[in-house]
Amino acid sequence: MTTLVTGGAGFIGSHVVEALVRDGHRVRVLDSLRPDVHGPAPDLSPLRGLRGVEVVVGDTTSTRDVAGALVGCDRVVHLAAKVGLGVDFADTEDYVHTNATGTAVLLGAMARADVRRLVLASPWSSTATATTSTRQARSCVRARAAASTSRPDGSIP
Ligand SMILES: NC(=O)c1ccc[n+]([C@@H]2O[C@H](COP(=O)([O-])OP(=O)(O)OC[C@H]3O[C@@H](n4cnc5c(N)ncnc54)[C@H](O)[C@@H]3O)[C@@H](O)[C@H]2O)c1
Repeated sequence: MTTLVTGGAGFIGSHVVEALVRDGHRVRVLDSLRPDVHGPAPDLSPLRGLRGVEVVVGDTTSTRDVAGALVGCDRVVHLAAKVGLGVDFADTEDYVHTNATGTAVLLGAMARADVRRLVLASPWSSTATATTSTRQARSCVRARAAASTSRPDGSIP
């Protein structure tokens, strides 16, 4: 059984890869080696030194990279994400592209390749975004409800 670990060069991913290898599984890592995580010259020797581990440098937002990485894999552990790196609202697009689009591309490729087993670590940043959006949506609904019952002069009863 071969497991594709996206983000397998990252903090959690590298431990997952080690644990899988310890249990006798073959592993393929798909990681873009983001320079803001790994620096300009990532050291892959610890991963590549593990028996049964293949490292593919590629991006989960690329249909081609993901389809290629899935060939011969039976299951996926999805850990590739942008994680708490940004400090600015301008990072939102990168969060959404990496975390949402990357996951969507992976799910599409898995469906096409008939790979049906997935372990997904929800990026905390998406959870935060979803929670914020839900709150915003609720207050928007409340505002609309209030507006629909407002008096002709616009004041709310
Ligand atoms: N570390 C924690 O305490 C913690 C807690 C809860 C949840 N998580 C979640 O677990 C997951 C992994 O977290 P981590 O701490 O190992 O992060 P990390 O930044 O150490 O690892 C993420 C890895 O994903 C890679 N990556 C990023 N974008 C990619 C892309 N588009 N394509 C391919 N690879 C890409 C990075 O190069 C990196 O190696 C995240 O979803 C995170 O939100 C982490």
